Amino acid sequence: TNISVLVSGRGTNLQSIIDAIESGGIAGAKITAVISDKKDAYALTRAENHKIPGIFADPKSFSSRQAYDDHLLSILQENKTDLVLLAGYLRIISDSLIAAYENRMINIHPSLLPSFRGLHAQQQAVEYGVKFSGCTVHFVEPALDGGPVILQKVVPVLDGDTEETLAARILVEENKAYPEAVKLFVEGKLKVDGRIVTILE
Ligand code: GRF
Repeated sequence: TNISVLVSGRGTNLQSIIDAIESGGIAGAKITAVISDKKDAYALTRAENHKIPGIFADPKSFSSRQAYDDHLLSILQENKTDLVLLAGYLRIISDSLIAAYENRMINIHPSLLPSFRGLHAQQQAVEYGVKFSGCTVHFVEPALDGGPVILQKVVPVLDGDTEETLAARILVEENKAYPEAVKLFVEGKLKVDGRIVTILE
């Protein structure tokens, strides 16, 4: 399974997947490209440190989101990508790119979906006053943070939590959940039927 990872920032989730592949925890997978829309994303440095091609694709060089995503699709195809991972990628993705990787594009979101979609999910959870939150790994559909759920992990929201303290608690679980989900995909253990993902034995 050739994996490409789309990133915009620090890349801890990317790192967790690199580590799982390098340690043999995920067998039969290779990250063939890390693609960033931000030139200075630390995720690109992480890729370089592990001899993975890092590509900066500058949105400013394209006249529209469609043109940019067509460019991304050509990079994905050149790299013979089987699976696309969104790992802290902050741009909305056009429907055509999502359709090209139907059930082969995965995202991680720092809440228990369908609660708290969009940006600042941890802040939304703190403000709402929920007692539990967590993270969701899901297949990507055109609706933002809306596709079939692969797995979720739960953390408590504690008295006095801020966006930062809750985000840190959730991030620990994200960095476990994402490699787990990728492993299931690579092993062919995810069956998708409409909204429902079943994990095969
Ligand atoms: C994570 O909280 C992820 O859920 C969200 O963006 C953050 C990315 O963190 N989509 P990192 O770049 O993987 O460290």
